[in-house]
Amino acid sequence: MKVSDSLDRPLRALRISVTDRCNFRCPYCMPRDRFGADFAFLDRKEVLTFEEIIRLARVFVSAGVEKVRLTGGEPLLRHGLPTLVAGIAGVPGIRDVALTTNGSLLAPQARALREAGLHRLTVSLDSLDPGRFAELSDSTVPLAQVLAGLEAASEAGFRPVKLNCVLRRGVNEEDILPLAAFARERGHTLRFIEYMDAGTGNGWRLDQVVPAREVAARVSARWPLARRACPKGNCVAQHWVYADGAGELGLIASVTEPFCRGCDRARLSASGVLYTCLFAAQGLDLKGPLRAGASDADLRALIAEGWRRRDDRYSERRTEGTAGLPKVEMFHIGG
Ligand code: GTP
Ligand code: 5AD
Ligand code: SF4
Ligand code: SF4
Repeated sequence: MKVSDSLDRPLRALRISVTDRCNFRCPYCMPRDRFGADFAFLDRKEVLTFEEIIRLARVFVSAGVEKVRLTGGEPLLRHGLPTLVAGIAGVPGIRDVALTTNGSLLAPQARALREAGLHRLTVSLDSLDPGRFAELSDSTVPLAQVLAGLEAASEAGFRPVKLNCVLRRGVNEEDILPLAAFARERGHTLRFIEYMDAGTGNGWRLDQVVPAREVAARVSARWPLARRACPKGNCVAQHWVYADGAGELGLIASVTEPFCRGCDRARLSASGVLYTCLFAAQGLDLKGPLRAGASDADLRALIAEGWRRRDDRYSERRTEGTAGLPKVEMFHIGG
């Protein structure tokens, strides 16, 4: 049975974070000065097991979910991820299983993920310049390792692979055209994401956002683009197509043109807390009741009640003044 929230938005998509750990320290997500060597990540016993995740996925399906996206932290740090993919893909009612990864651990696992039933893959890639990539990921993983992961993914049959680039003014604007050229040549779908005030520590300012309409103009000046309507009616990314037939470009204008009205996404943290918005300060604990013996019907009732109460539309209310409000960290709920 479907449930709708207080703004009449159904629950359709579930983003599941499988770990809060990451081997990168992107400054807009996990700045190293706050998430260094002594930061306390979740204890192993706090993290949902694969069995618990799959059980919750089934319960979410009974509340309307059809699509699942696995996220992190970095989801491929979780051992045996293809096993989880297979379990989720096998839940009746789930028609789409996707993964968002930084790509660093992808090369050896791409084929297994495909064979496990993963439908779609998104790789984050903020720069094609090795020096800037190192700075932006703040890790020792070379850019070449991510590019090898991308290639393995294409070979394993993920076509197109989506590429996510978070743009920041004066930081990686120079990467716009090289990334577009790279994606066009290889048949990937590139998406530029407006930098968001996610979490509490990235020091976001509105003047660091490169508006999607500016990106469209800059890319279009080189390779003309035309905007297409969103095929499903509630897209996160604006769809643009190259006039020369070289595929699509996505623009995620979460700051300048928010899309809360169609937001049908729930987020489950690695510790089993349900968040109804990327910018929520608080969530609803599902792990406690699950481990205390709640039935599927009990869990469904909790989820349905949480969703019915939902009135989130943070991106429509955002100002520079709201940026400092308490919010869940991005790496707890995977974006
Ligand atoms: P599909 O809809 O399954 O194709 O996935 P997606 O494009 O939403 O997933 P992905 O993990 O690639 O996210 C792309 C970017 O959009 C990330 O920066 C997310 O944080 C952002 N994003 C995704 N969903 C939402 C949302 O509901 N609200 C906001 N503000 N941003 C979102
Ligand atoms: N603003 C916009 N996108 C972000 N991501 C992480 N932090 C932010 C932020 N502050 C992106 C990642 C990844 C996706 C899930 O979210 O780069 O591609
Ligand atoms: Fe890791 Fe992704 Fe956060 Fe970067 S954005 S630190 S890759 S979880
Ligand atoms: Fe959905 Fe919250 Fe993003 Fe709006 S800000 S689209 S309600 S997750």
